[in-house]
Amino acid sequence: MKIETERLILRPWEHRDRAPMARIHGDPDVRRFYYKVLTPEETNADIDLSIERARINGFHFQAAELKETGELIGLIGLGRVPDATKAVIPSRPDVEIGWVLGKQFWGKGLAPEGARAWLDYAWSIGLPEVVAFTARINLRSQRVMQKIGMRYDPADDYMHPKIPEGHPLHAHVLYRIGNPSL
Ligand SMILES: CC(C)(COP(=O)(O)OP(=O)(O)OC[C@H]1O[C@@H](n2cnc3c(N)ncnc32)[C@H](O)[C@@H]1OP(=O)(O)O)[C@@H](O)C(=O)NCCC(=O)NCCS
Repeated sequence: MKIETERLILRPWEHRDRAPMARIHGDPDVRRFYYKVLTPEETNADIDLSIERARINGFHFQAAELKETGELIGLIGLGRVPDATKAVIPSRPDVEIGWVLGKQFWGKGLAPEGARAWLDYAWSIGLPEVVAFTARINLRSQRVMQKIGMRYDPADDYMHPKIPEGHPLHAHVLYRIGNPSL
């Protein structure tokens, strides 16, 4: 799946993305709201999983490239909510949207730009709803959710099963948006 926006190319992963994506996932500032940074091996496994999921489901988190320079800025995309996550979210949502950008690309509206294009794609294939979730304290990511028209749904607050109680990343929030043509 290749999607173009004003400033971005959203496209399948290529071998050349692995090193820059490993730098992004290895940056403690980028991973501040995750439990830990990823090693290059974990990034490779993550990309391999995305390629496999895209083959099975037709979509997954993909590479986001800046048109102007050809640089990889990170990942943006849709994914089937993993079973283990689905099991702890009250409404058991099916499809999520997500984003992780290298920090030199933050604050330029690039995540919302790519995410809006992925939402258009979701509606074009008839998905009824897309959700996004993150740690309650990740306000920057929640701002992206708000900017693309998603609404916070307190009924779907949940506790991350792999993060210990009392840890600042334990509490998670969920935002949702419905397909406007259904
Ligand atoms: C979250 C992320 C994708 C945002 O991407 P981006 O392209 O920089 O998004 P934007 O340019 O729209 O900027 C973020 C918005 O959050 C706002 N913001 C920044 N810091 C904030 C904070 N601490 N509290 C509230 N809002 C904040 C900005 O002002 C901006 O909103 P505005 O346009 O209304 O001013 C990027 O910061 C990132 O990759 N973070 C690390 C990975 C991550 O946490 N991913 C999400 C996991 S669910």
